[in-house]
Amino acid sequence: MFTSVIIPAAGFGERMGASVSKQFLTLRGKPILIHTVERFQRCNEIAEIVITAQRSAFARIGFLVSEFHLTKVRPLVEGGERRQDSVANALNVVDPRADLIAVHDAVRPFLHKKILLQAIEKAAEYSAAVVAVRAKDTVKIGNDSAFVEKTLDRSSVWIAQTPQIFKREILVHAYMLAKEKNIVATDDSSLVEQIGIQPVLVEGSYDNIKITTPDDLEFAEALLRRFEG
Ligand code: CTP
Ligand code: MG
Repeated sequence: MFTSVIIPAAGFGERMGASVSKQFLTLRGKPILIHTVERFQRCNEIAEIVITAQRSAFARIGFLVSEFHLTKVRPLVEGGERRQDSVANALNVVDPRADLIAVHDAVRPFLHKKILLQAIEKAAEYSAAVVAVRAKDTVKIGNDSAFVEKTLDRSSVWIAQTPQIFKREILVHAYMLAKEKNIVATDDSSLVEQIGIQPVLVEGSYDNIKITTPDDLEFAEALLRRFEG
C-alpha cells in the first residue's frame, strides 16, 4: 500500500493576525509546519509528503526540510487562492503509485499516530475516511439575521478534522468534478461526498486542533507538553 500525504500550507493566517503565516510560528522553537510534517515523516505507512506553499516561502521551507531531515518531502508545490486550489495543485504531482492520498492541514500538529493509522486502515477498507470528533456542544443552524433556524441532534453531529484519506482515484475524480462544476468546499470530504461516496468517520481526538486564532497558541503550548513531555 502506497500512501501519500498532501499538506496544504499556503494560507496567510488572517485570523491569527501575526506578521508571518501561522504555519511558521514556533512552538518550542520549531515551526508549527515542521511539527506537523514530522508526524508523517515518522510514520512508516506514509511514503511521500507533498507540501503546497506560497512561492515566497519556498526557500524558508526548503531550508527547514533539510535542517530537520524531512526526507519524504517532495519538491514544493505552489499553493492557490483557496485551500481547495492548493490541494488541487498538489494532486497533480502525487506519485502515480499512490493507492491512498491523505490530506492534512499544516496547522494541526497534534495528530496521534494511532489515529493516523486507524484512518489509513479505514480508508483502505471503505475508500474514504474522515477523522472527526463528536460535537460537545449543541449545534444550531442560524439564518442571516442570527435567529435559530434549526437545532441539530447532537448525538449525530461530528466535527470534521484532518487527516481525510481517500483512494487516489476517488479524490482525483472529486477534484475534477469540483473544477468542472465550480463546487467550493472547506474540506476534501465534501467534494468526495458530491460524487456519491459516503466516507466513514474515524473517531479522533480533541487534541487535534487547527491552530487558527491567537488563543490557540497558548493551548498548543500546553498540548505540546502532553505530546512531548
Ligand atoms: N491553505 C492553503 N491554501 C490556501 C488557504 C489555506 O494551503 N489558499 C492551508 C493553510 O495553510 C492551512 C490549511 O489550509 O494549513 C487550513 O486553512 P486555515 O486554517 O483556514 O488557514 P489560513 O487560510 O492560513 O487561515 P485564515 O483562514 O485565518 O486566513
Ligand atoms: Mg483559511
